[in-house]
Amino acid sequence: LTLLSWVIYIPLQILFVPIALVGGSVLAYRQIIVSKRLGVSQTAIEIINGRWAMHVFDLRDDEPTVKLAATLPNNYIFGLWLCLLPLWVKYKISGKQALYPRVAAAGAETVVDLVIARTLQFDRIIDRVSSQVEQFVILGAGYDTRAYGKLKQVSITCFELDQTEVQQHKLESLQSAGISSEHVIFVSVDFTSESMFEKLILAGFDPAKKTLFLWEGVSLYLSEAQVRRTMQDVRQHAAVGSVLLADIYGEIFIKFANKGMQKKALDLTDEGLDFSLDFSTDFEKTLSTFIESEDLKVGESYFLGHKSDKGPYVAVVEMIVDRKA
Ligand SMILES: C[S@@+](CC[C@H](N)C(=O)[O-])C[C@H]1O[C@@H](n2cnc3c(N)ncnc32)[C@H](O)[C@@H]1O
Repeated sequence: LTLLSWVIYIPLQILFVPIALVGGSVLAYRQIIVSKRLGVSQTAIEIINGRWAMHVFDLRDDEPTVKLAATLPNNYIFGLWLCLLPLWVKYKISGKQALYPRVAAAGAETVVDLVIARTLQFDRIIDRVSSQVEQFVILGAGYDTRAYGKLKQVSITCFELDQTEVQQHKLESLQSAGISSEHVIFVSVDFTSESMFEKLILAGFDPAKKTLFLWEGVSLYLSEAQVRRTMQDVRQHAAVGSVLLADIYGEIFIKFANKGMQKKALDLTDEGLDFSLDFSTDFEKTLSTFIESEDLKVGESYFLGHKSDKGPYVAVVEMIVDRKA
């Protein structure tokens, strides 16, 4: 069946090249230009569409993502279908995911696997930590739907933090998608100029309760000083046993994504990339030295692409508040 799936896939994919180009162009237009017009993040579309693909290819169950992705005015799911249909047909014939989206072998993740691999690593750690905490705070939530899925079933207070425009637009879109958000506390904040804990406490956050802070796909847009400030804030204000769960990018990734067309597109929505660490040698030490320099303890970590000669391009890491500030 695998062989048959390739035999059907290759001509179908060739046939689909012009169709996918049209679909992909409309999608890119909406993602970049419509996001700019709305004053919201375009990279958050990249992420929700990665998770949409994971659901459609049976890699991860996420009904709220499918509903939300379809209602966003800065997205175009039909275009995404046109791009991925040949791969989906191939998957349905062979029963195996190939090329995209797929679960890459450990350490062999490429940049194409970023959203998929990163999401699975975050999910795994969230599953473990969420049973040990009472509050769940998503920093830079974008279109994350974790608060509307599994976590809705457990008794955990969910907070979502993001910029005002992004939250407004998410709330409207959740409503159009028929997803209830009453159990989620939305706190608008700009990490570059405001204190997130002041706002969180006003919104009902209890600093005495153990909390999981999810900081996924955000550190790369901040300066080193801002990244450190967030780590210091968590260390100072969160209860012992709280976790800051983040992805920290390697220099190699930021250099690759921060040039040419990609950079121009990112600049349109003010999403230039900044913070990274040099993971080219002794990456585990580099990461732990950085985290420990802010007095946080390294818990579980995973490095995407760790078998590459150039070193990994991103780490997913659990940072633990292990003693009182
Ligand atoms: C790539 S998206 C990731 C979204 C989400 N965490 C996920 O994984 O689906 C980055 C998010 O960070 C938010 N963000 C970036 N800089 C921010 C800032 N200075 N203050 C508040 N939110 C910010 C953006 O609005 C966007 O929603």
